[in-house]
Amino acid sequence: MPEDRPPLAGRRVAVIGAGYVGLPTALALDRFGHSVMICDRDDERLSHLRRGLSPILETGLEELLGEALHRGQFRTTPRAAEAVVGAEFVFLCVDTPPAKDGSADLSFITAVAEEIAPHLERGAVVVNKSTVPLGTAELVEGLIGRGDVDVVSNPEFLREGSAVANSLRPDRIVVGAKDLTVAQRVAALFEQTGSPVVLTDRRSSELIKYAANAFLATKLSFVNSLASMCEAVGADARDLARGIGYDRRIGPDFLQPGPGWGGACLPKDATALVAMAAAAGVEVDVVRAALSSNDSQRDRVVEKIRVAAGGDLRDHTVAVLGLTFKSNTDDRRNSPATAITRKLIERGARVRAHDPTVKAAGEAPPDLQQVTVCEDPYEALAGAEVVVILTEWPLFRELDYRAVRDLVARPVVVDTRNLLDGDLLRSLGFTYFGAGH
Ligand SMILES: NC(=O)c1ccc[n+]([C@@H]2O[C@H](COP(=O)([O-])OP(=O)(O)OC[C@H]3O[C@@H](n4cnc5c(N)ncnc54)[C@H](O)[C@@H]3O)[C@@H](O)[C@H]2O)c1
Repeated sequence: MPEDRPPLAGRRVAVIGAGYVGLPTALALDRFGHSVMICDRDDERLSHLRRGLSPILETGLEELLGEALHRGQFRTTPRAAEAVVGAEFVFLCVDTPPAKDGSADLSFITAVAEEIAPHLERGAVVVNKSTVPLGTAELVEGLIGRGDVDVVSNPEFLREGSAVANSLRPDRIVVGAKDLTVAQRVAALFEQTGSPVVLTDRRSSELIKYAANAFLATKLSFVNSLASMCEAVGADARDLARGIGYDRRIGPDFLQPGPGWGGACLPKDATALVAMAAAAGVEVDVVRAALSSNDSQRDRVVEKIRVAAGGDLRDHTVAVLGLTFKSNTDDRRNSPATAITRKLIERGARVRAHDPTVKAAGEAPPDLQQVTVCEDPYEALAGAEVVVILTEWPLFRELDYRAVRDLVARPVVVDTRNLLDGDLLRSLGFTYFGAGH
């Protein structure tokens, strides 16, 4: 490519789905100079966007939205059929939740494909960014049924909590297409990121996404298992993470022990990978083991809380700090925090919880009706016989633990995230249980 070529910009792009993936993607494309129409069937999401308010909690997203609205190339619509008119590229970013049998529910994808098919421009490229099973690009192509439209796979690897940074500068861009020039045109939309590009066929591209998440899930399960071992043998999982993480073949990320992995992606993608492999006659037993280890991890945490509570959870008051699956997001989908909270309730505990993203005081989220949700963390801690840190929100580190000690019924903390300074807590008279040490 000649050095003096201006960055490719000014393409007309439609993004269908304004969620955790669609919105950062759309705003990044706007920042790269493309003209973006975002579509979501959720009117409330769109009305938030038009007022410059982010419908999801994501660092930097509202600022990016403000800039996009200021530049004036960013538009919204509730109708996919309308969004694609005039668009050269159409990104599908709708949800693909797990169906009852663990496979991906593609009904949102297929509904959009059918809706947009007659309205797509001649030569348009439909870009599948949702995480979808192998063969979905072919499926969408069949549903669209037009020889003048290409369907490519462009999986998304962003992490909630750092979605803006990840979208503006992804670690890599993967595009799978039947035709290399079409893949190159899609990759060129992101030219300004300077990120490495992997161009491949559609099935490989679809599989890359599942492989990445299954690998990360396996890495976390490995670390959680080793953290349990550390506790049993008197070693320290924090030092272990540093000691192995500096090895470039291993790397420092996804090496911190926790209450088990969760969120909207890792569990569903690891499960789907195992199912897809089995359908192809292949047993990916490593990933199967990672999944089952993750189930055990949640039980191990509950067991630790039971021991910390003095041997029985029945009628004991547990203060839960954190309900989201990690910090800096309001996402509770498949959160280990909510799964563990449910298990505590099943064991008869009285749970008082605080999470900075669950605002309504005293009003439990629909999936946790028996929990007393407190708007103030100190209120959740009052009278607790065990305090459990389940999400690594920085604000939990900044609490006044001298005041906490006087609020709780018993000064016992189970810190599943190694968020707190255990030595400080012990010096204040707490019994402190860390993760893997
Ligand atoms: N959340 C993540 O961290 C992440 C990361 C990488 C990949 N993914 C994948 O990206 C996809 C989207 O995930 P998400 O977390 O952004 O989901 P989400 O639920 O946050 O957003 C999906 C949006 O699509 C909208 N939608 C559904 N059907 C529609 C239709 N017919 N017309 C218009 N809008 C419609 C929904 O209203 C919703 O706002 C999934 O396949 C997911 O696996 C997610």
